[in-house]
Amino acid sequence: MSDTSHDTPHLPGPSLWPIGFAIGVACLLLGLVISWIVAAIGAVLAITFGFLWARDVTRSVRDDVPEIEPEARAVADAPSDDTADTTPASLPTYSRTRFLEASTIGLGAAIGAIVTVPALGFMVLPSFTNLEEGKADLGPIDNFPEGTFVIASYLASPTAGEVSRRTAFVRNNGLAEGDKPSFTILYSRCVHLGCPVQPNGPIDEAAKKEVNGVELRPVLAQSFGCPCHGGLYDAEGNRQAGPPVRSMDRYTFSIKDGRLVLGELYAVGNVSGTGANAKISRYPWSTPGTHVDGVEAWLYPIVPSQVTG
Ligand code: FES
Repeated sequence: MSDTSHDTPHLPGPSLWPIGFAIGVACLLLGLVISWIVAAIGAVLAITFGFLWARDVTRSVRDDVPEIEPEARAVADAPSDDTADTTPASLPTYSRTRFLEASTIGLGAAIGAIVTVPALGFMVLPSFTNLEEGKADLGPIDNFPEGTFVIASYLASPTAGEVSRRTAFVRNNGLAEGDKPSFTILYSRCVHLGCPVQPNGPIDEAAKKEVNGVELRPVLAQSFGCPCHGGLYDAEGNRQAGPPVRSMDRYTFSIKDGRLVLGELYAVGNVSGTGANAKISRYPWSTPGTHVDGVEAWLYPIVPSQVTG
């Protein structure tokens, strides 16, 4: 450390980088709520402006290191030695002000990382660890009698346990286009605010089956109702009454070795026709309360995201 008696006050010049950094962080946090694209843009802005800001702040420390003249000493009686290295050492030194400045920035960054990284991990990691959710094997297709809805209750993530239990209404439509099995598979979550939709019709409890954690109960349902705010859907999942903003969400499916396997969830604007002949307006899955078509989809383009469970 050097003598600081001649230090001049260190006043960093005005910079726009902190403002850009703040905008990037705000964008990142907003993106975590509404969209991964916005979050990615925010992360890029925050990292870029943060780097520029840090470079600006530390420039004086990096570039303007004063050197102290080596101490001059008379060596009158020193023995003459041609091999001795008489070049004085030139060591970089820092003033106390700069040392404290760099320490404060470094300590602040370390504390910020300690606080932020675990919180970000808890927010972001579940999105990558629950990728298999929804790929449920509902068992042999023989368990689904043609023309009848079956309430299928399954664990979307067996390792997570009962908290991941989901319900789908599955109807075997017979064969489509000659030889392709057709199923209508509606997700039970209401597309108004997410309450569990119930089938309007008697459940045949005597015919209940449970295989590999999947519970199957046939039901004579011609419509579906939501108990929360009176939402009503027809047998194709079209909204009939109440506040739901679109038709019931559906699952894609595949048949593997004679077994019905659920695929991705997707949102539905409208369904015309029925069963295997239905024409479905399909959209990427979106949260309950989100309009996927019509004028409303333009008026309310951004909605909070949430997990599909
Ligand atoms: S949550 Fe279903 S009608 Fe409101």
